[in-house]
This record gives sequence, C-alpha cells and structure tokens, in this order.
Amino acid sequence: MQASRVHELSPEEQAIYRRLDPSRLPQHVAIIMDGNGRWAGKRSLKRFLGHQQGAESVQFVVETASRINLPWLTLYAFSLENNLRRPKTEVNFLMRLLGAYLSNNVKRMNDNNVRIRYIGRTDELPHEVRERMEWAAEQTQQNTGTTLTLALNYGARSELVDAFRGLCQEVQRKELALEHITEQDIQRHLYTAHMPDPDLLIRTSGEMRISNFLLWQIAYTEIFVTDRLWPDFRGVHMLEAIENYQSRNRRYGGLSDDLQSLPGNELVGR
Ligand code: FPP
Repeated sequence: MQASRVHELSPEEQAIYRRLDPSRLPQHVAIIMDGNGRWAGKRSLKRFLGHQQGAESVQFVVETASRINLPWLTLYAFSLENNLRRPKTEVNFLMRLLGAYLSNNVKRMNDNNVRIRYIGRTDELPHEVRERMEWAAEQTQQNTGTTLTLALNYGARSELVDAFRGLCQEVQRKELALEHITEQDIQRHLYTAHMPDPDLLIRTSGEMRISNFLLWQIAYTEIFVTDRLWPDFRGVHMLEAIENYQSRNRRYGGLSDDLQSLPGNELVGR
C-alpha cells in the first residue's frame, strides 16, 4: 500500500538524494526551528500564521526523514523560555497548534512508520495537550522507522539539573560512589538517555545560537545554519544540509586528514 504523504519527491530532492552516500548518512538530526514570526512579519501577517505555516514544514521534514530511513529526528518545538517569556495568547496558540498537529498527522506517521516521543518538562504542559501527546505516542509506539522526538517545554540547563538530581539520589542511596561517576552516568540520566547524540544540528533563520538546546549532547555535533526561515524549510533543504554534512571531516578532537599525513604531526593539535 502507498504511504500517505504530504508531498512527492521533487526532481531536485531526487537529485540530491542520488548524490548522498548511503553509508555516511547521519543517524540523528536535530533542528532548531526558528523564524516563524519573521516569516509572518515579512508578509504583514500575524505571528500565529507563521507558526501555523511552521507546523506544515514539520510534516515535510518528518516525511523526508522517514524516506531516507533516518533513525532519529529531534525538533525543538517549544522551549522553557518560550513558555515563560511569550505572551499567554501565543503560548496558548502554540499548544492548540501542537494538539491539532498530532490529531491530524498520527495516521500519516503510522503510514510512514514514524514513532513519536517527547523530551522536556512535559508534565508542566496543559492537561489536554498532555493527553493528546500520550495518545499520539501510544498510537505510533509500534513503528520501527524514524523516531520523531519533539522537545517541548525543554531547556538543556534544566535537563542537566534534572539529571544531576537523579544522579545525586543514586549517590545518596549509596548505589553509586561519588568517585566512580563517569560521563556515562550523567548521560543515562538525560532525557535523551535512549538516543545517540545528534550528528547534525540544523538551525533556520540565520541565528548563530544554540538557545539552550541539547547542550551536553552536541559536544561533537556538526552545525549547519541556513538563512531560510522555518516556514519555508522543506525536505529538500534538510537533504541539502545532509549533503553538506557528508562533505565534512568529523574529527572528534583529533587531527584532520591532511594534517595526519604531514611529517611531525605529533606536535600539531596539542
Ligand atoms: C520560532 O519562531 C519557533 C517556535 C516558537 C517553535 C517552533 C514551533 C513550530 C514550528 C510550530 C508548530 C510545531 C509543531 C511541532 C506542530 P519564532 O516565533 O521565534 O520566530 P521569530 O524569531 O522570527 O520571531
């Protein structure tokens, strides 16, 4: 049976897709979706319409992820700071939009073998939204393709606070000795304990900021910033970012290939 999708692969997407090296696809792509307000402002529209259009982009990107068999896609949908600092009317609108997005797209997620999960202090979100979120997670939990993780009421520093609280409890209960704490112990207390770190982080709308997103997890992540505003972002743009990622040489703190072959390289990079 043909999967129901919001779009067919455009010739441009097909061309990039053919150029990608299937053996070097990222396992985890994370996206800071930014620019909804500016998109609306440029068209003299209310900010709400920018968010609405941004929700359309989400589904395009999710389906492209599923098409290329990307195991993990994480989207920064609503930060703790958004919750605290945006007008109540905008926050309420974003919550309704999320609920509507889930209601309207669960069938498509199932058709595309996408499983949905969440990270963040989601227990602080309105009750009706949490119910919808739980419903969507249950409806898609059997899917084995892309795991779509929505970061909601998320802040990386609060994630670390929550992780350290968990870790300290283990120490208090004498399940773990202070001197034996490792990076892995911190990692297993993060909201993302079950996921690999992102290989690629994309940010739209040209801002060169991390905005309190996945601070621990992006230690060695490749970053791709595009000036395109989120509501204009489509699957083809994610494929462009992945193509750019494949052109890079990931070093994890080591030497680049060209330096490795130089004599005396043991002195470089210390
Ligand atoms: C930034 O735009 C975007 C957000 C507040 C978060 C992303 C939200 C969506 C894409 C809406 C729907 C999401 C889902 C999952 C259905 P901004 O308002 O900060 O833009 P600006 O910087 O141009 O003002």
